[in-house]
Amino acid sequence: MLRVEQLSHSFHNASESVKVLHDINLFIEKGEMVALLGSSGSGKSTLLNLMAGFMKPSSGRIFIGDKDIVLLNENRLAEYRRKHIGFIFQSYELIPSLTVVENVELPLVFHTLSPSKRKKKALSLLEQVGLSDKTDLFPSQLSGGQQQRVSIARSLISEPYVIFADEPTGNLDTRTEEEILSILQRLNAELDTTFVIVTHEAEVAEQMGRIITLKDGVLI
Ligand SMILES: Nc1ncnc2c1ncn2[C@@H]1O[C@H](COP(=O)(O)OP(=O)(O)O)[C@@H](O)[C@H]1O
Ligand SMILES: [Mg+2]
Repeated sequence: MLRVEQLSHSFHNASESVKVLHDINLFIEKGEMVALLGSSGSGKSTLLNLMAGFMKPSSGRIFIGDKDIVLLNENRLAEYRRKHIGFIFQSYELIPSLTVVENVELPLVFHTLSPSKRKKKALSLLEQVGLSDKTDLFPSQLSGGQQQRVSIARSLISEPYVIFADEPTGNLDTRTEEEILSILQRLNAELDTTFVIVTHEAEVAEQMGRIITLKDGVLI
């Protein structure tokens, strides 16, 4: 499903080049729920952003299904990301001027699905994350945990091959964190969607099916 081969990445500043990922190899099967664990600065977000196609690696290959996304040009990659990849951010990244249901529909705006079917699908996902009574509110009217549930529904609407989440509970209190993690676990079990979840907390990672640990840009 997801295969990373000999992936390395360096960031270039004015004066120097800093290598932050070293020859990463990994394989994730369809339906897996994997934690990417490591301390701050270990390279978790960089690896996730590369796998999600937000940027290009210095070297290496990233296969999603049988497609090497490193070879796609910017337009193709953007299209691929929109159709096949879901993303959940620590800070939710909802559009403040759109309602909850409009936020969830957004990834399908360029899709061939009719507006009424699109809305129906968004409402059904909002029901699955327990937000049926909030669909016409704006993000600012929701708690952090509720906003993250909206972003989970949004990440699912295109039925992506894989969902990447970068510290999805990083801004939440422990109880809300538990709620969000159990929603993700239930969706993983029910929909067979593949999840890769970045965390720096071992207690969060232990709730996933498998833990991949990064240290100083190396998988250990
Ligand atoms: N855009 C960037 N430019 C330069 N260095 C960066 C950039 N993004 C991240 N880094 C560096 O790469 C390393 C890994 O960062 P990151 O992937 O964000 O780690 P993590 O998510 O595990 O905290 C850190 O040393 C960080 O300072
Ligand atoms: Mg990070």
